[in-house]
Amino acid sequence: MHKTVHPDVATVVGARPQFVKCAPVSRELRAAGLGEFLIHTGQHYDDRLSGVFFRELALPDPDVNLGVGSGLPGKQTGEILIRLEEVLRERRPRVVLVYGDTNSTLAGALAAAGLGIPVAHVEAGMRSYNRTMPEERNRVATDHWADLLFCHNERTRDRLRGEGVRGRVEVVGDVMCEMVAALRGEAPGESPFPAAVGLEPGRYAVVTLHRPVNADDPAAVQNLVAWCAAAPFPVVWPTHPRVRDAAEKALAALGPVGSRLRLVPPLGYRDMLALVAQARLLLTDSGGLQKEAFFLGVPCVTLRGETEWDETVEAGWNFLAGDRATPAAIEAAARRALERLPGGDPAGHAAAVAAAFGPPDPARRIARALHDFLAAPAGRGAD
Ligand code: UD1
Repeated sequence: MHKTVHPDVATVVGARPQFVKCAPVSRELRAAGLGEFLIHTGQHYDDRLSGVFFRELALPDPDVNLGVGSGLPGKQTGEILIRLEEVLRERRPRVVLVYGDTNSTLAGALAAAGLGIPVAHVEAGMRSYNRTMPEERNRVATDHWADLLFCHNERTRDRLRGEGVRGRVEVVGDVMCEMVAALRGEAPGESPFPAAVGLEPGRYAVVTLHRPVNADDPAAVQNLVAWCAAAPFPVVWPTHPRVRDAAEKALAALGPVGSRLRLVPPLGYRDMLALVAQARLLLTDSGGLQKEAFFLGVPCVTLRGETEWDETVEAGWNFLAGDRATPAAIEAAARRALERLPGGDPAGHAAAVAAAFGPPDPARRIARALHDFLAAPAGRGAD
């Protein structure tokens, strides 16, 4: 089960966006000659939320899976912390690398900090300033425990410095932006996926929903389903397990008028990107998908009252409809979003993405920074 004794880097991941973010970084760590020990917390365990990402992104098999599974946030975070502490005590990595803002991120940072192992955080400095969200609590706490903070642009770096974080902050760019560009470059031309499920490029919308504030509120799910049923084009909704039952129930209650909406199981990364890339509109409460829509030049309605990805709103590609949005609020945001034409002004769009999401080659920059950190005397603390 265990590959490397006292690895340089222990990577902690558990939820699907983290598998995406760690794929390019893991590759660059190996290229930089750093030994990586990959820990899957087991937060996501369904093949459609986990295994498919490892296969598609050619991630190495995890060295260990903590098998923590589902649970209330406190229990899930606590279970990960307990199990992780045991593994980290035994393996003594020289640095622990965490991604984003999930319960696995916070547990990884706390377990490492408790053992005196330096913590590195990718996607540091994001803020929605909504502390009712578990993700906001996770990311704020993680940033303040981190020794190395990798953020995507100067504004985020300045925010972290303004908050007085004690770790070293580096602007490296955005790893998701790198992934989207790489996957698009691998498969020039249009992906067959949307057509294979009967969707015409540019003539459908995509929906996703999983934040507790929306997904755990049947009225919010009914509102979204009602808007989809009356939408001016077909809508396809890859349903996260958290919301599947509520969405199916709301759709069944609509009867035949709901036929424009199709609920489909969660998709792998490549199919999801292809689906979004060819859509006329995305509606989501996911953080990652807001960014991906912007990278792909697809207008987005965010089903939240605020977003940590301000740059996408400022660039005019993302429109907030509010938490638990009513059909009227969704419609108002969708109308504004539809004024944006996908594919128009490619040079202007590329420049906007580059300006908002920082320097190129983020994964290589992260690997190099970790290499230098471990080579410096202060980085050897955990040996
Ligand atoms: C988690 C992250 C969120 C991230 C999202 C990506 C936290 C607080 N939330 O949300 O930031 O954007 O992953 O998808 O860490 N479930 C399954 N199978 C699974 C995993 C979950 O059926 O493999 C169901 C369970 O009913 C579970 C629910 O989904 O109770 C929620 O799962 P959880 O991992 O707690 O949060 P997500 O909503 O997936």
